[in-house]
Parts: sequence; structure tokens; C-alpha cells
Amino acid sequence: MSDEKIIVMNMGTIDSRVHSERSTLCLGIESSCDETSAAIVDSDRNILSHIIYSQIPEHQKYGGVVPELAARAHILAIDQVIEQTLQAAGKNMDDIDVVAATAGPGLIGGVLVGWMAATGIAQSTNKPLVAVNHLEGHALVPRLSATIADGSNGTASVDFPYLLMLASGGHCQILLVHGVGRYEMIGQTLDDSAGEAFDKVAKMLGLGYPGGPIVDKRAKDGDRTVFKFPRPLCDKPGYDFSFSGIKTAARTFLDKNTEPLTDKYINDFCASFQAAVVDCITNRLGNALNDERVKAAMPKTLVVAGGVAKNSEIRAAMEKLAHKNGMIFAAPPMNLCTDNGAMIAWAGLENFRIGNVVKEPIAPRPRWPLTEL
Ligand SMILES: Nc1ncnc2c1ncn2[C@@H]1O[C@H](COP(=O)(O)OP(=O)(O)OP(=O)(O)O)[C@@H](O)[C@H]1O
Ligand SMILES: [Mg+2]
Repeated sequence: MSDEKIIVMNMGTIDSRVHSERSTLCLGIESSCDETSAAIVDSDRNILSHIIYSQIPEHQKYGGVVPELAARAHILAIDQVIEQTLQAAGKNMDDIDVVAATAGPGLIGGVLVGWMAATGIAQSTNKPLVAVNHLEGHALVPRLSATIADGSNGTASVDFPYLLMLASGGHCQILLVHGVGRYEMIGQTLDDSAGEAFDKVAKMLGLGYPGGPIVDKRAKDGDRTVFKFPRPLCDKPGYDFSFSGIKTAARTFLDKNTEPLTDKYINDFCASFQAAVVDCITNRLGNALNDERVKAAMPKTLVVAGGVAKNSEIRAAMEKLAHKNGMIFAAPPMNLCTDNGAMIAWAGLENFRIGNVVKEPIAPRPRWPLTEL
């Protein structure tokens, strides 16, 4: 594992809040896709240490994540990542109160590596173990840390219930979050996730992997009116998404193009594609806010989470929608949107607090919908 691929994050947060001696310390481990990550988080919402080892350089030449390579890379990295996380926090295993790890959904080879490491640590040190649903990690992390619409860091504002747009590499769902382990599905994608659409369109344009951040950047210099991308399902009531039509439209535009791909062409293409995705998200969320189940729950906060939550235009559009509906808008800081150990440690703490610990051996799950928690 080379040093340049290790990112040490969030070491400053301990200074800004009070770390009480009686707070609970959780070691969280994430390995469901192409990041091997671990973090130590306490129940006072401090991130004591956070290490993310990104495998992106390993997968880049294939234009996407190769599961076998990912699993092998997790095996090589996991021990060192955990060790460095403890060292960076100045802690040893005796100081840790609870161990948590992703137990699904995700690429099962990688999930197994992190889960077995956590199980081994918990059993040998006699600590409680929490099996975290990766999506619950994304869903709850705004309660650990979030930027609130007014620009302040106001974790206290993300109280249950909240309406969540969960947009990541593998999922695209609107959820009513009633509490820990209590998710009501309002809408979801019928085909691709938003992240997948970003990645595929970037690949078609030869922009590299992962595509989301590159498309987001290119779109800033483009004209969103040049390419007429469809807005699938937006003329219909309901809360579901469909992104495959947008992807096909991208392929068709490119097939018809006979000119070289200039910077202007690519920027306009990205801006037009991104505008279509943003319109779909705000259209479906707008409908969801008028749904009887949502209105009855009276969520005060509209939240975005998952890797796609990094998108500048999606954040801006959702903030506007929230304010129009008299709601607060909240999003995790950028480094807690894509996969990370801190979100798993936090979800571990939230589950530990309600007694949701592993009581007998469990099998990690490649598929594990939030509604089955
Ligand atoms: N600025 C951005 N704009 C749009 N998409 C982005 C941006 N930054 C990252 N993404 C996308 O986020 C996705 C990765 O998110 P995440 O790490 O949450 O996914 P995952 O863990 O692979 O999927 P899942 O959480 O569903 O299992 C990629 O598809 C990436 O392109
Ligand atoms: Mg993820």
C-alpha cells in the first residue's frame, strides 16, 4: 500500500467540540466498494481519526471498479488502515467501546474482508460488534456532521424524521427516515442510479473514472441548453426515477456527432446532461413533498447523502426546493459523501445506542435494502 493513496481526514474536528471522557468510542470499518477506510468516532460527534485508502488509481484504467481487484486490494490494505486509524487517534483497542463494520450491501469480496476483520477484532477483544448497512451509513452521516443551508455546521438540526435523497454509485432512492433502522421507501430508480449515469456518460466522453466529479466540473463552463436531454417520468405523477433514457440519449448524441470532441462540446454536453439529472431529482422530490405519507410525518429537513450529494448543482437545487417548502436543507461535508469509515462508525454508534448489536454470527449480504432493517 503506497503512502500517496492514503488520505488522513478530519483530524481537526476534535478541537472544535467537547470530548467528554464518558462518551462512547466506536471503530468503524468500510470496505464495500473501492475504498478501504476506518475511523474512530465518539458519541459526542467527534471524528478522532479517519483513514481512507482509495483504490481509484487501481481501477481507473478499466473505467470502473473490478470486483476481484477490489477484494484483493482490501485484503492488502485492511490491517494497515486499522492500525493507522488507532495510531492517528492516539488510542489502542482497550480504549474502543464498540466495533462496527459494513456487512452489506456491496461487492461481497470486499464486504467480507472488512467484516471478517471487525469480527476478529471484536471477538478477540470481547467488544460489542455492530453489523452496519452501508446505505444506513450514508443515510445517518448527516447527523454526525452536516452543512446546514445557512452555512453553519448544525448537526443538531438533522433530527428525525427527515426526507432523504440518497444518491450514490449503486442507489437512487427517496426515503422518509423515521429513525435508526426505520426507513420508508417513497421512490427509487427503476433502472440505473444517478451515480452510474454520471460515470457512464463521463466514460462515453472519455473523461475518466469516477465520472461524477469531472462532469460536475466541466458543467460549470458549459451551456445547459445546447443538448436536449429527456427528463424521464417527469411528465408523470410519482416518485420513481429512470436514468437509462438519459444515458441512451447521450449515446445517440455522440453517435450522430461527426466533429472532434472540443472542450466546448464536452462542457455543453456535461452541463446539459447534468441539468436533466437535476430536473429529474427536483421533480420527483417536489412530488414526494406532497405525498400524504410525507406530509403526515412533517419532516423539517430535506437531506441529500451518498456520493452524488457532492454535486454542486444538485445541492443548490435541493436547497432552493427546501426553502420553497419551508424546510431546512442539510448535506454532509464533501469528504463524508462518498464511502468512508466515519459514516460506518457513526451508524455503529447510533445502532449501539438502541442495543442493535450482533448476538450470533451473521452472513454479510451483497444485497440488503434499507427497508429490510
Ligand atoms: N460531484 C459529483 N457529482 C455527481 N456525482 C458524483 C460527484 N462526486 C462523486 N459522484 C459519484 O458518486 C458515486 C460514488 O458514490 P458512493 O461512494 O456513495 O457510491 P458506492 O458506494 O459505489 O455506491 P452505494 O453507496 O450505492 O453502494 C460515483 O458514481 C461518483 O461518480
Ligand atoms: Mg456508498
